Amino acid sequence: MDIEKIMAEKSHLIDKEFEAVLKKDEIENLHDAIWYHMSTGGKRIRPLLAILTCEALSGDSKKIIPFAAACELLHNWLLIHDDIEDGDRVRRDLPTVWVKYGMPHAVNVGDYLAQKVYELIIRSKNYNVPDDVVVKLIDAMITTSLKTSEGQSMDMNLRNNESPTETEYISMAIHKTAYYLTVPMIGAAIVSDREDLVDKIVDFGMNIGPAFQITDDVLDLTEGKGRQEIGRDIKEGKRSILVVHCLSKCAPSEKEALVDILNKTPEDTSDNDVLLVKEMFEKHGSIDYAVGVAKKYADKAKTISDDMPDDLRSVLDFFADYIVKRRK
Ligand code: IPE
Ligand code: IPE
Ligand code: MG
Repeated sequence: MDIEKIMAEKSHLIDKEFEAVLKKDEIENLHDAIWYHMSTGGKRIRPLLAILTCEALSGDSKKIIPFAAACELLHNWLLIHDDIEDGDRVRRDLPTVWVKYGMPHAVNVGDYLAQKVYELIIRSKNYNVPDDVVVKLIDAMITTSLKTSEGQSMDMNLRNNESPTETEYISMAIHKTAYYLTVPMIGAAIVSDREDLVDKIVDFGMNIGPAFQITDDVLDLTEGKGRQEIGRDIKEGKRSILVVHCLSKCAPSEKEALVDILNKTPEDTSDNDVLLVKEMFEKHGSIDYAVGVAKKYADKAKTISDDMPDDLRSVLDFFADYIVKRRK
C-alpha cells in the first residue's frame, strides 16, 4: 500500500469538505490564518484511516468523508494550540500560527476550528447518514476531544516530574495521542453499521497510539518533524519516553545534569545541551529502547486485529507497521 499515493487520490474529497465550511478572506487574522495553517499540509493519516476502514467494512467510503475531514480538522486545531502550549515556532517547516498571527489570534483560530469539527460531522447528513448515526459520531468526537485535552494537561504536568514512570508516560500518550488516532476508525465502524467492532478497534487504537507517540519522540532527534531543529522536545523539557528511560537508568550525577537541562527555558537551552542529552540517551540505550517499545505496541496491535474481518485486518496491520517505520 502506497500511503502517499492513496492520500493524493483522496485528498480532494477532504479539501472539498474544508472548502464547504471554512470561509476565505472574510475576517482578517481568522480566515487567512486558518487557510495559512491548512496549507502547511501534514500526512493526513487520520482521514486516510477513516476512509480505508470504511471501505474495508462497507465497500464504500462516501458516508465517512465529512467525519474523515472532521478528524483532520480536529488534529489541525489541536496542533495550533499545541504549538502555543509547547512554545514551538515552526511546524511543517513553516512559522506556527501564533508566531505569524500573534498569540491571541492563534487561540481564537483554534477555538473557531474546534466548533467547525462539529459542523463538518453534521454535514454527514448530506451523504445520507441518518440523524441517530450523526449523534453517535458527535458523541464519539466529544469523548475523543476531552481525552485529548486531558492528555495535553498530563503532558504539561509531567514536565514538573523528575522521576516520571513509563506507566505515567504511556497514560499521557494514550490520552493525548491515541484517542484521536482511534476516532477515525470508530467513526468508520459506526457509519458502516459495525458497532460490534468498536471495542476491538479501541483496543487496537490504544496500542498504535503509544507506538505513534514514541515514534514521534524518536523522530524529534532527527529532522523528520519539519522543525529544522533537532531535540526540540529536550528544549521544551518534555518527558518523552527517551527522557523517562534515561532518567531511570542514569547515575545520580547524570540525572541532576539531565534535569537541569530539561528545566531550562527553550531559549536558554543551548545546542550543546541538546547534544549532551542526546549522548546520554545513546550511552544508556534509550533510543533503541524506545524503538523497541514502539514495536512492541505495534505488534500487540497486530494481534488484536487478528480477530477482525480480513479486509479490515490488512488495512489495520498496514497502519500498525507504517506508524513505527515512518520517517516523518
Ligand atoms: C503529530 O501528528 C502530532 C502527534 C500526535 C504526535 P502527525 O505526525 O500526524 O502530524 P502531521 O499532520 O503529519 O503534520
Ligand atoms: C501533539 O503532541 C499531540 C497533540 C497535538 C494533541 P506533541 O507535542 O508531542 O507533538 P509535536 O511534537 O508537537 O508534533
Ligand atoms: Mg508539540
